[in-house]
Amino acid sequence: MKRKITLIPGDGIGPEVTGATVSVLRAAGVQIEWEPFVVGAEALTKYGDPLPADLIESIKRNKVALKGPATTPVGTGFVSSNVRLRKALDLYANLRPIKSLKGVKSRYEDVDLIVVRENTEDLYSGLEHEVVPGVVESLKIITDRASRRIARFAFEYARREARKKVTAIHKANIMKMSDGLFLNCFREVAKDYPEILADDLIVDNACMQLVMNPNQFDVLLLENLYGDIISDLGAGLVGGLGVVPGANIGDEMAVFEAVHGSAPNIAGRGIANPTALIQTSVLMLKHIDEREAADRIQAAIEKILAEGQVLTRDLGGQATTIEFTEAVIRSL
Ligand code: NAI
Repeated sequence: MKRKITLIPGDGIGPEVTGATVSVLRAAGVQIEWEPFVVGAEALTKYGDPLPADLIESIKRNKVALKGPATTPVGTGFVSSNVRLRKALDLYANLRPIKSLKGVKSRYEDVDLIVVRENTEDLYSGLEHEVVPGVVESLKIITDRASRRIARFAFEYARREARKKVTAIHKANIMKMSDGLFLNCFREVAKDYPEILADDLIVDNACMQLVMNPNQFDVLLLENLYGDIISDLGAGLVGGLGVVPGANIGDEMAVFEAVHGSAPNIAGRGIANPTALIQTSVLMLKHIDEREAADRIQAAIEKILAEGQVLTRDLGGQATTIEFTEAVIRSL
């Protein structure tokens, strides 16, 4: 029987990389019936809401979605559909594995770390207002409940995947109450996982340490904003945004999407790298217990990257999205 999965192609390079990923999954023989939906500006024009209710219902029914990036207007305009989606479905954990790939040139060759980002609160609360003209206030919300459950998620993940250390990253020296609460919750939850090393680091130092010596890290646990920034820094350590996968996970549902955005500077030119979303689909297949297909797709993509004959421009090659995708499918 075919498994129903919600598909959100998104905009910008979204339709190009989701199209590539869907064809790789089809070629791998995975039985999926896709339920496609639009989000963002296109959904606003068509349905009067950038995040249509039918889309939310589809994910609630199917429990799993694969999503391409969606553009958020800067400064003005509608609230990010990505942020709204994560909140509406309570997808509180954002998981971003940062792993070196053979054949992908980068500063280091053996980076293997996991970024766990809290996905529902912090400065992404959306609570901003003008106090008086020329003065705005943006609220950073940190709660005991969300801090504990994301810490528990990180330690459970570390235990399941035989990881050795979880490092909480914060700025509790300055934001003593909010980041202090996050850190205290982390320390308390850590007591339930004595076999896993738990330490912490201030975020500015963490940035430097990541650039100088990323191998000292294993699982990183961060609030929403720091997690957003450090994920991109991590992507830069292993070849850029074109390769890094991601997942938004809640207790009942999960939406799988790459770290990168809609890349308007290259959209519509057929040159986007679909590696990030294909690797994201591998995370999705593992989540739905299609491990054999997941391993085959991962091996195929690693083979093509390691051979270095068919690479997209971001990785120093000349291949188009379609040429790269066809090479992955041939190697399947
Ligand atoms: P971006 O990730 O779209 O692009 C940053 C740089 O990386 C650009 O030079 C781009 O060409 C390159 N890049 C990204 N993905 C690539 C790929 N697959 N292949 C080759 N090159 C790639 O970040 P930016 O420009 O800050 O954001 C653009 C839009 O995307 C914004 O509206 C932002 O809000 C949205 N966005 C959406 C996300 C989502 O839907 N989950 C996540 C991040 C940003």
